[in-house]
Amino acid sequence: ALSQTDRALVLALWKKMSSNVGIYATEAWERTFAAFPSTKTYFPHLDLSPGSSQVKAHGQKVADALTLAAHHLDDLPGSLSALSDLHAHTLRVDPANFQFFNHCLLVTLARHYPGDFSPKMHASLDKFLGLVTSALVSKYR
Ligand code: HEM
Repeated sequence: ALSQTDRALVLALWKKMSSNVGIYATEAWERTFAAFPSTKTYFPHLDLSPGSSQVKAHGQKVADALTLAAHHLDDLPGSLSALSDLHAHTLRVDPANFQFFNHCLLVTLARHYPGDFSPKMHASLDKFLGLVTSALVSKYR
């Protein structure tokens, strides 16, 4: 579970990112597709070229889900329940792919917020994304 320090760090970065979460999530998806090309197989119907408006729209949706999660740290499984159904039952995303995206999001945030990205911040964000992943893959069997 997240400690009070973890919560404070995650929420502080979210506040700092303000309305830019979508920009960073989009960049993280572009990095995921470039660094871990097997992830692209889930998006055959989207234009995945750099700067694609479809990737931008996807990045914004994922950003909104992460922002919702950041504000419901006490009930991640509940707040992400519908998305868990989607990823497990409809999209059938192999859980390993979440590690790739989480990693790329951490790298993206470290690049944009070098002054905030202390080892403690790194660890807290990693825990947060790990709990989001647990919630999203909770419906797999
Ligand atoms: C769609 C969230 C990770 C594959 C979505 C949507 C959201 C979302 C909010 C849109 C749902 C809707 O339109 O109703 C997240 C979050 C993630 C995550 C918060 C992790 C932090 C992943 C990963 C993959 C993936 C790792 C596979 C590599 C997809 C696909 C769609 C989707 C294929 C449908 C895209 C489309 O057709 O437009 N996700 N997702 N997601 N997600 Fe995820």
